[in-house]
Order: sequence, then C-alpha cells, then structure tokens
Amino acid sequence: MHLRTALFTAALACAAPAASAQIHYNPQTHVFRIDSAGTTYAFGVNDMQELQQLYWGKALAASDNFPAARSNDGNASFDPATSTTPQEYAGWGAGLYVEPALKITFPDGNRDLVLHYVSHTIDGNTLTIRLKDIEREVFVSLRYTTDPQTGILGRSAVIENRTSDPLLIEQAESATWTLPRGTDYTLDYLTGRWAGEDQLQQEAIRPGQRVLESRRGSTGHQNSPWFAVERDHATDQDTGDVWFGTLAWSGSWRITVEQDQLRAIRITGGYNPFDFGYRLAPGQSLDTPVFYGGYTHDGIGGASRLLHRFEIASILPQKPTPKARPVLYNSWEATEFNVDEAGQEALAEKAASIGVERFVMDDGWFGQRKDDHAGLGDWYVNPQKFPHGLKPLIDKVHSLGMDFGLWVEPEMVNPDSDLYRKHPDWVLNFTGRPRTEGRNQLVLNLARQDVRDYVYGFLDKLVTENDIAFLKWDYNRNWSEPGWPAVSPEEQKQVYVQYIDNLYSILRELRAKHPGLEIESCSGGGGRVDLGILRYTDEVWTSDNTDPFDRLSIQDGFTYAFTPGVMMAWVTDSPAWRHPGITSVEYRFLSSMQGGLGVGANLNHWTPEDFATAKRLIAEYKQIRETVQHGSLYRLVSPRGSEDSVTESVSLDRSQAAVFAFLHTSQFGYPYPRIYLRGLDPKAEYRVHWISSEPEKPGPHSELTPMPDHASGAWFMSHGVDVNLRGDFQAAAFRLDRVAADE
Ligand code: GLA
Repeated sequence: MHLRTALFTAALACAAPAASAQIHYNPQTHVFRIDSAGTTYAFGVNDMQELQQLYWGKALAASDNFPAARSNDGNASFDPATSTTPQEYAGWGAGLYVEPALKITFPDGNRDLVLHYVSHTIDGNTLTIRLKDIEREVFVSLRYTTDPQTGILGRSAVIENRTSDPLLIEQAESATWTLPRGTDYTLDYLTGRWAGEDQLQQEAIRPGQRVLESRRGSTGHQNSPWFAVERDHATDQDTGDVWFGTLAWSGSWRITVEQDQLRAIRITGGYNPFDFGYRLAPGQSLDTPVFYGGYTHDGIGGASRLLHRFEIASILPQKPTPKARPVLYNSWEATEFNVDEAGQEALAEKAASIGVERFVMDDGWFGQRKDDHAGLGDWYVNPQKFPHGLKPLIDKVHSLGMDFGLWVEPEMVNPDSDLYRKHPDWVLNFTGRPRTEGRNQLVLNLARQDVRDYVYGFLDKLVTENDIAFLKWDYNRNWSEPGWPAVSPEEQKQVYVQYIDNLYSILRELRAKHPGLEIESCSGGGGRVDLGILRYTDEVWTSDNTDPFDRLSIQDGFTYAFTPGVMMAWVTDSPAWRHPGITSVEYRFLSSMQGGLGVGANLNHWTPEDFATAKRLIAEYKQIRETVQHGSLYRLVSPRGSEDSVTESVSLDRSQAAVFAFLHTSQFGYPYPRIYLRGLDPKAEYRVHWISSEPEKPGPHSELTPMPDHASGAWFMSHGVDVNLRGDFQAAAFRLDRVAADE
C-alpha cells in the first residue's frame, strides 16, 4: 500500500468508533444484554415478572455474567418493591410512587396497571419485549434499537388495547432510563427563550424531580428535549462518565430526572402528561416517540460528538452522508416584508458576487402580506409585488448560479385572510371561547384531515409549479385553547399526537414526491429543534438573534444536543438588532462560520471592502465546511462566563482542523490564553493557514509564542499555540492541513 493511503487508513481506523452490536438473551438467568460500540446495557425479568434494569455503562467483558434480576424491597412498608425496583417501563399500579411510564383509566373505573413480561423477539439490532397487564388485555411492546456506530439506543413503546372497551391513556412515556444509586451526579440541560436559545445549565442532582418540558404543542425555545448526566462532575470536557438522551418529538414533551428516596436516578421521557388523554379504541394502538440514550467515558464533549455522529448517520433526511449546507443568502433582515421582484433581484446579484450558493426569499411574497397582520393562509403569489409570478426571480437566481429557496409558514393563519374567512373552524379553538392570537395569527388544527390535505396540497403545488430547492418552514407561535370541536370531547386531546403525526406525514410525503427539496425547521428561530423534526429537515434556524457575540453562547449550547451540520448562522449588519456593540465583518463571519453559513445583511449598504472581505471568507469557508459541519467538534474554551472562547473542528480522518478563537473583552489586558488543540494525529505534521487575517505577530520579548508555520499534532495539542488577540470583540481563525507523508 502507498504510504499516504496507509496513513490515511490508519487514521480513519483510529477516529472511527468500533462498529459492532450484539443483542443476547440468557434463558437461564432471563437476562437481556445489548453490547454496542463500547457500551453495555442489560436488564432482566425478575422474580415478580417485571422488567428490571441491571446495567448501563462502559462495555463489560463478554464473559461477565449478570445474575438473575431480583426485585428490591425498600426495607420499609413505605417503600414497596414496585417503587424501589428499577423498572424499565412501569405501569401505574401496585403502589408505584416514582414516575410511571404508563397510566391508564379503564371505563369501569379501574386505574391499576401492572405490566409483566410475556415474550420477546430479537431481529438484527432490534430487541422487542412484549409486556401485558396482569389481568387485562393491554399489551405494551418495548422496542430497543441499538446503533452499532455509537452505541446509542433508541427506545419506544407501542401500547395496544385488546380489551373490548375503549380505554384512556393519561400518561405514555417512551422509556425510563436508570443510573446506579449515587449522589455525585451533575445534570446538564438547555434552557432559553425566543432570541436567547440553548443556554447550558448545570446542577447537582438532588432528591426529588427536575422537570424539563414543553406544554406548548411544539418543542419550544424554553427547554431542549435533551439531557446529560455527568458522574463526579466531570469538569473536563473530554473525560469521565456521561449518560445522555434526547427525545425525538416535536409536540408537547416532558423529561423528568428524579433521584428517589434510595438515591436511584431515573430519567423518564415521552409525551407530556399535562392535559394528555388518548382514547384508545379496542384494537387500536398508540406509538410513543423514540427516546434515544447513550453513554460515553469521554466526557460531555465525547457525548456530543457521539450524538452529532448519530444525527448525521442515522437521523437526518440525507443520512448517512448528508450534503454540506450551501452558503445561503436570506432577505429577511434586509427587507423584512418589503419584497418585490426588482429588489430581490438586486440583492441576488450582490449575493452571487460573494460566492453565495442559495438565495432565499423570506416572508412577504404571498397573499395580502404587507406586515404580520394579514395574509398567512393565502399561499398565492402577491400580484403587486410579483406581477409575473415567481418565475422571473427564480430564473434570475438560477442564471446567477444559485438555487432558490422560499419562506413559508404552513401551519398558521391570520384572521385577516381569505382562508380564515372561509374556514374559521379550521383553527385550534374551544367553542364559544376567545381565540388568543400570537403575532396576529392562529394555529391551524393540522390534526384535522381536511387541514392536513389543504396544507400538503398548497405546498406540493408551490414546489411543483416553481423550481424551488429549499423551503424555510416557519412556525411563529405556540398553542393556546387547543380544542378540536369537530370530534367528540373524549377524542379532542388526541390533537397532541395527531397534529404532530400529520406534520411529519406532510414533510415525509413532500420529500418523497420532490426528492431534491431541502427544508429548514424554523420556529421564530430555534423553537422547534429536536430529533423528530430533524428526520425530515436538513437544517434549522438556530435563533432570530443574529448578534455574532450572543450567538457564540447560543451555538455553544446548541451543539451539546445537535450537530453543527444543521446549525444555520447568518452574517447580518452591525450594530446588530440586539447588541449595540460594533463588530467587524470579519468577526461576524467567524462567528457564523462554525455551522452552516448564511448572509442576511442588507447588501445594498455594504462597502466594496465589505464585499471583498465576504468574498474571501466565503471562499475560506468552503475549504473547511465539511470539517465544521460533519467533523468532530471540540469546545476548547466555553463562552459561558469567560472573556474568551475557542472551538475546534477536526475532520473524521484528522487531515484537517479549523480553529475559531474569540476575545469578548480584555479586562486588565491579560494575554490571550494558550490554546491546546485536541483530536489531531500526534505524529502527523500539520501546516497552518490563516482563515481570518493573521493577528499581529508577537514582538521578540512578548509573553506569547509566535505561531509556527507547521508543527506536529503533538505540538499543537501538548505545547499549544498562542493567538495574539487584544481588545474587545476580536476574533481569529486558522486551519491546519495535514502534510502528506510523501510531501
Ligand atoms: C420568524 C423567523 C425569521 C423570519 C420571520 C418572518 O421570526 O424566525 O427568520 O423568517 O419569522 O416573518
């Protein structure tokens, strides 16, 4: 083998996790064991016929045998075994005081549900366990699907009513995860709000519950459906035990993290039981969303890298090898609702001149849309703004070498619209009650078949009649008065499930019929980001806050749960609309280049120098975007509570790294901290190439070491490098390219 190829293969082998999975059942002990990519997960059927968790963590030896599961009695009459045994999926019954996985009311008033093991099947990487109530014909099939690349386990449940009467499901969770008893756990989770998403919170797990949730009908800005638990407060990003999980659901959801009275940790997640009530007719079944969970010994940084790999290879619509995100231009911040043919064409010309690949026209092109008071629901092209339809603009965009994208908000309606005047009953509402508006709009009840068909129909027509490569799918408010008067009162609460199922089915059908179409999930920024919607959308609008400094911490938080390969960031004007600080065009680009790059500035106001900088940096970005979007991310210095922050992305074959360093403010003028890179091949030689303009070289007697032109991976990781940043809102970025062995 040629030396260069040999080195490359060796590097790949090092970087890729061991891909293997095995599901094993021991009939003697009645223990199930799932071994996958360095992780072992085990549970057994105990003496009470319950499914009892035995282990979740670092891979054990194949020869290690789990003893049969034994239920735990809590040594007190107040702690019955039902509650103290770590059950995989516990019905609410027989004295269960911890969070149940399933709660049912039967028509005769019985509310006791005790689930016992019945049978199982193993099919490739999927194990299915069938449980049944001790008396009634209620079956639950628990699915465990393991991913051989990452060891991430997908868990979900199917609840089946085989009785002869309807029953009411009041709580349906996807799974309960159990961690060993302990008091040294730290919980990580993400909180936020509109224009301030994804702020990382860290706190010790204490007795009681911490509830992460959305009751809003969609994922929400306030919590991301993601958690991570670190043992021993693994302060280092890259070492220590971490368990993590994320729920693939875009409706109301909940994850509870509880430490029970015997200090066991249980994490239960699925549909939010608040206002939940799913009537299951005889013969019907209800599927829960998938709750993914994983384990790593490589710290919280390792946990996010595993999740990123998993999302790219197993979740995204273009899995396992999604196309890199094109550089896009979006008109929103430049024109808001004032779009028209001439104005958009002028922007398109300017965007093309700097290397933009996709031109997206935002809100304002349809119906009687002048502002946010009217037009939503009327999806015809506004004849005043576009007298010849969209074709001339789309042709122009194509002639400039870009593809064309369009903003839509399919699930909403303004009361001032033809659609609402015709179908006032199509929105979520309670009969006779006020209809609370948000941004002057109401939510169409997508659970209704006629609404679902209307939404699919207009989208299909729009994409069939126009050469559209991309839809920015927006969703600008949460639910209120979530009534569905067209169905019986007992069925109305099914809206929480049916709405989202229909949303997914529209996206699925649209993509199947238009295979080239890409879609962005937006909800006033990052209000609908989760692994459910990411099965059908290629990218997300991270936040309406495009301030490049605020974005550093939003992006930092975002990447705990989601790959930078879907995280869109635009360069907008400075002072940005949120932050009055003055930042350079270069700073704004470097902030935005850590995910999918876009430009949203008003290019009509840019100077020739701005265009030159943008053109240079977009060309630089194209050299690193594969690494940034699909490589391994190392958060070297967090922007949280710090004067500076640094990220590094390394390509999977370790042939390239991209480093972004920011100085927020230099109080007291300390020299910029030394940067220690990670994830490189220590023996390989890397050459430095500046992406930003090169910072001033340190003087001969400076405390800073000059950046070498090239050095070994070991040098960059162990000796570290200095970047000469001083002042406020400063930034620099460089790339390392591995020097081929025979160069
Ligand atoms: C939302 C989006 C913005 C923009 C506007 C248009 O706020 O997040 O990016 O598309 O709607 O009305």
